[in-house]
Amino acid sequence: MHSENMNRVSLAALGSILFAMLLVAFSNLVISPKRPAVPGFALPTSGPASTLAAAPAAPPAEPLPALLAKADATKGQQYAKVCQTCHNFEKGAGPKIGPPLWGVAGRPIASIPGFSYSDSLKAVGGNWTWEALNTMVSNPKMEASGTKMAFPGEKDPQKRADILAFLQTLSDSPVPFPK
Ligand code: HEC
Repeated sequence: MHSENMNRVSLAALGSILFAMLLVAFSNLVISPKRPAVPGFALPTSGPASTLAAAPAAPPAEPLPALLAKADATKGQQYAKVCQTCHNFEKGAGPKIGPPLWGVAGRPIASIPGFSYSDSLKAVGGNWTWEALNTMVSNPKMEASGTKMAFPGEKDPQKRADILAFLQTLSDSPVPFPK
């Protein structure tokens, strides 16, 4: 056997191994320059939309009752000014672009006579609980995917709770917050 031949063969083998290693290293660089901190995707929890918690905007979300317990209705009134583009708050006031919100807590969803609700909101069913209102204010499309409420949503959980505390004042017999 010729040792020169052997050397040539092993050099060739070594060469292709090195080439393969370089290829792997290079493709790693090209294909995955960064890895996400958390692998995979955040899947929505199962269950009807109206029972979903607020959009996970700020980590880690405090439970709604805790946020409501320290909510400030006066601040909420300020934050709710944006709603007044489309909603009336006063007792007895009618619809604007959206239905009137006096007494909204506890009343059946999509129930103002004469207001032309989206089929999507009409299909939700049930009454406006504080949880459902929290979802609606957080992201209307999460409450009813085809809603006509063109509002991107308030992403700050405490501001949302403040808005709910203000909505609570819009009633002759305010609906208590969940404990
Ligand atoms: C750009 C206009 C617009 C803004 C701003 C807006 N809404 Fe609405 N809202 C609507 C419309 C339109 C509907 C009817 C939705 C449907 O039929 O799908 C609605 C529906 C609602 C409902 C359901 C009422 C019912 O009778 O079932 C609630 C609760 C509500 N909005 C709360 C709010 C709050 C709170 C804010 C402010 C944080 C707000 N909206 C901001 C347009 C708006």
